[in-house]
Amino acid sequence: MGKKKERIDFDSFYSFYFPGRWESLKEALHKEPVKTAYTKGLLKPYYLDEASVATAMALDIKKGDRVLDLCAAPGGKTLILAGQLGESGELTSNDRSSARRARLKKVIAEHLPDYAASQITVTGHDASKWCLYETDVYDKILLDAPCSSERHVLTSPSHLKKWGTARTKHLAVQAYSMLVSALDVVKNGGTIVYSTCALSPVENDGVIEKLRKKRPDRFKLVKPDIPFGEMTTYGWQILPDTAGGKGPMYIAKIIRIQ
Ligand SMILES: C[S@@+](CC[C@H](N)C(=O)[O-])C[C@H]1O[C@@H](n2cnc3c(N)ncnc32)[C@H](O)[C@@H]1O
Repeated sequence: MGKKKERIDFDSFYSFYFPGRWESLKEALHKEPVKTAYTKGLLKPYYLDEASVATAMALDIKKGDRVLDLCAAPGGKTLILAGQLGESGELTSNDRSSARRARLKKVIAEHLPDYAASQITVTGHDASKWCLYETDVYDKILLDAPCSSERHVLTSPSHLKKWGTARTKHLAVQAYSMLVSALDVVKNGGTIVYSTCALSPVENDGVIEKLRKKRPDRFKLVKPDIPFGEMTTYGWQILPDTAGGKGPMYIAKIIRIQ
């Protein structure tokens, strides 16, 4: 019989990554998320975390840009991106889940005036395979990747019971495959914002670290201009214990250079 692998529990995993801080961070994560009413260019307010607004704004859309939102549903960030396109811009909002895509379409129809909604094409592809069909096309790409969502896990006993380190490793592999695809899909000189609402560094700086190892000459990292949050090794993180309840959100801003 082989040696039984020791199972790492949730608290030990996160206290390792947030030493001296985990208890206060956990307390902040248990509180009700702070939402703001976003109204710019919308028919009615959309309620979302200010960290999500900052993530979409970090893409720094200019009028006329061709933009791809790779994991777009339910659509909060798509609404913000759409508002910055000007008359000649285009937005493709993609999500692989058909149920979530239906929600995305409803969010677009209910919140955006017709002219803005008409600039959006909703698609349902696998983000990690996009580069097989299109390359060098978009000025800006938002990759808001599916992630561990620990804030949700912590408040759900059934999710907490099922939690294990294999999940964060699996999500990081998936996020990397989407990001490396996006690097081929964005134009040379274009921008990718990679974001997650994960606390696990494996899905955050860990994914950027892997991209640096595997595609060292193809991109540079720039600091997103966000008035709250803190620097990480490769990106920026907004955590609720120090950002007035906002987050969690991780953001890495990537410029393709080759
Ligand atoms: C964090 S959520 C996106 C939230 C969204 N950006 C917003 O602001 O409302 C991640 C999304 O990725 C989608 N997704 C998961 N795997 C995918 C894949 N391989 N390709 C495209 N979308 C995927 C999920 O259905 C989910 O809606």
